[in-house]
Amino acid sequence: MAGIYIHIPFCRQKCYYCNFYKTVNQNFTSIFLNALANEIVSGKYFLSSEPVETIYFGGGTPSVLTENELVEILNLLHKEFTVTSDAEITFEANPDDLNPAYLNSLFSSGVNRLSIGIQSFNDEHLKKMNRRHTAKQAVNSVGNAVKAGFNNISIDLIYGLPGLTSQQWKQNLDDAFQLPAEHLSAYHLTYHEGTPFYTWLKKGTLTELSEDKSVEQFNILLDSCLDAGFEQYEISNFTRDKKYSKHNTAYWTGGKYLGLGPSAHSFDGEKRRWNVAHVEAYCNAIENKTSYFQEEQLSENDKFNEYILTNIRTKWGLSQETISERFGKSRADFFTREIEKYIQNKKITEQNGIFTLTRAGLFVSDDIMANLMII
Ligand SMILES: C[S@@+](CC[C@H](N)C(=O)[O-])C[C@H]1O[C@@H](n2cnc3c(N)ncnc32)[C@H](O)[C@@H]1O
Ligand code: SF4
Repeated sequence: MAGIYIHIPFCRQKCYYCNFYKTVNQNFTSIFLNALANEIVSGKYFLSSEPVETIYFGGGTPSVLTENELVEILNLLHKEFTVTSDAEITFEANPDDLNPAYLNSLFSSGVNRLSIGIQSFNDEHLKKMNRRHTAKQAVNSVGNAVKAGFNNISIDLIYGLPGLTSQQWKQNLDDAFQLPAEHLSAYHLTYHEGTPFYTWLKKGTLTELSEDKSVEQFNILLDSCLDAGFEQYEISNFTRDKKYSKHNTAYWTGGKYLGLGPSAHSFDGEKRRWNVAHVEAYCNAIENKTSYFQEEQLSENDKFNEYILTNIRTKWGLSQETISERFGKSRADFFTREIEKYIQNKKITEQNGIFTLTRAGLFVSDDIMANLMII
């Protein structure tokens, strides 16, 4: 099983918190689409003819693409790869782009999963983040997506924002559960260097939410999802009706994937590679047939670390048997030694050789991961 990620590096406007690679200069759209087509053809060897079970359009903002542009990309993918007939095809979209006509064309192009960036149902907070849409537009976009035929919709929310009260966060979640969306990704705000939020934080013109409030909001997230019948299957991901993201689940469980477009990452079990995060440099390199990516061969320790870092995030957890079989006795012994203290202090629970984070463990997952890695 393999997946394909396609990075669409354009946004209509930049949100103040975001450090995903993107440009607001859309003059490059057509040369980017040519370069992408070339990369699809030249890069397909990476998956060594494995069937493709998931395709994920991320960004940036895939919903800046016209229907024809999307259909051309999909046609080429179907021509160059063996895409399975039930492949999950996800498309990230901003609510303001999702009018009924566009949604109909997305659905008829074969997209069968939408990931809509709502972030908040509070207009004041949306403005503070420099989002282009209102809460009402966001709500309508989900309703219209269902009318267009979608039955696998995910929404993104952000919490831990400066000034977000716990009541407002609870209200956001309640609003989300009212929508006909089967999947929720809820991320705590991260301050990334180079973003306006980060600059304002450093200047002192923006005040970070306290640690206590952040923890409280994470607890509200977990409790509210539980009450609303949303199962947590990854630190930031929840679903009702078992509509797990197949694409992201494959990332977290060691699946192969090919990333296409500027800044996209690829992984084939043996090496990791990453494309240059610059649309002009990417297009020029592809046109001139020079290198547009860097890559790294994984050592046995890297593979072990990769296994720990990804699988521990999920409800499927870490398997003692897999660790022994794949990574040898000395790494298995290291794991058994290190995991013990987390079992003792109830941050990790073990059942039939499978280790998963407890609720207390979820709060300190970064520390646990760091300690379980072999440096
Ligand atoms: C590639 S981005 C967004 C896709 C789409 N362009 C949009 O804005 O709706 C994927 C998601 O990452 C989350 N995200 C981006 N930057 C973040 C940050 N600094 N902290 C927390 N979440 C962030 C947002 O929820 C966002 O919807
Ligand atoms: S959150 Fe989405 S729309 Fe906003 S800048 Fe990032 S990629 Fe673009």
